[in-house]
Amino acid sequence: QVRPVILSGGAGTRLWPLSRATYPKQLMPLLSEESLLQATARRVAPAHGFLPPFVVCNGEHRFMVAEQLRSIEVTPEAILLEPLARNTAPAAAAAALAAAAIDPEAVLLLLPSDHHVADPAAFRDAVAMALPAALASFLVTFGITPSKPETGYGYIRLGAELPEAPGCRRVAKFVEKPDLPTARAYLAAGDHVWNGGMVLFQARQLLEELERFEPAMLAAVRASLAAAERDLDFTRLSEPEFANAVSKSIDYALLERTDRAAVVPCDMGWSDVGSWDSLWEAAPKDADGNALVGDVVAVGVRDSYLRAESRLLAVQGLTGVVAVETPDAVLVLARNKAQDLRSVVTALDQKG
Ligand code: GDD
Ligand code: MG
Repeated sequence: QVRPVILSGGAGTRLWPLSRATYPKQLMPLLSEESLLQATARRVAPAHGFLPPFVVCNGEHRFMVAEQLRSIEVTPEAILLEPLARNTAPAAAAAALAAAAIDPEAVLLLLPSDHHVADPAAFRDAVAMALPAALASFLVTFGITPSKPETGYGYIRLGAELPEAPGCRRVAKFVEKPDLPTARAYLAAGDHVWNGGMVLFQARQLLEELERFEPAMLAAVRASLAAAERDLDFTRLSEPEFANAVSKSIDYALLERTDRAAVVPCDMGWSDVGSWDSLWEAAPKDADGNALVGDVVAVGVRDSYLRAESRLLAVQGLTGVVAVETPDAVLVLARNKAQDLRSVVTALDQKG
């Protein structure tokens, strides 16, 4: 049986003004009534044969996270609270240590909380395909067929098929967030897939790899878990020790370095919902290609994402725009410039 570990720590700056540090995108109902976190937890619910999940999140979001899980009747094994953000490798380490204390042979499925998967059954089939490789001590990633030279993803060059796991290949090379010319070259070569950000592994294997590549990080996380405070369902990692862990993603810390990485190429209708443009792509649209959310009137509008949170939003005669109304901020943006929104948000932060 597989134990999900759901990471719910990011903020999602490219979905401003909807997502904020206090209310990050994985907790918002973006594509349906349900939040992305709830959809993630439901995809790997015990009804599908998974063990109760670990959730790792920032201490400030604990009540929102607990309440969202409760409302879809998912009872987590534990909610691990980070006193401060240290990126995904320390978060994964904390969950692996906690899971290994129950069962070192446990197979964990590390999951981002902020992705959309249009075909959850195909996703679960891919996990089943990855399982023999995880049991043979591989860290198994999930490969998405790339459609553009996106520089925000990890790229995986496909290696030889694993004899012990049909449908599963070795990772010949893993490159996290390449520059644009490199991403273009990978796309042209046609032998690369995107890293979908999910990883299946045995708890003891992850700890072994961390011991090899990031021993100081692992020691810091181990100490913070040993000194953790338990309150209700929450395990609050101890701050001074956790602060000692270097801030690094699992991609840079392990996947780029290990020789034990494998990949299951799969087609699950994946989107990381990272920007207004990818949200438009994943959202249900009308005959004019518009995704309309809330109290919206659109006349002569095409291929646009229009969202009203608190007032009436009217748009006329525009194509390929994003317009988002919230109580304290309004965004109007060319959809094909959605990736650049991060610079606007940075400018706003500096303004204070
Ligand atoms: N608990 C916790 N703590 N979770 C975190 C933290 C943290 O400090 N930082 C990020 N997360 C969560 C995010 O909420 C998200 O669900 C997931 O971990 C991945 O983090 P991102 O920050 O979104 O990573 P990324 O998008 O830059 O890159 C990763 O995902 C890509 C696919 O979307 C990499 O794995 C890439 O290789 C991959 O292609
Ligand atoms: Mg992401």
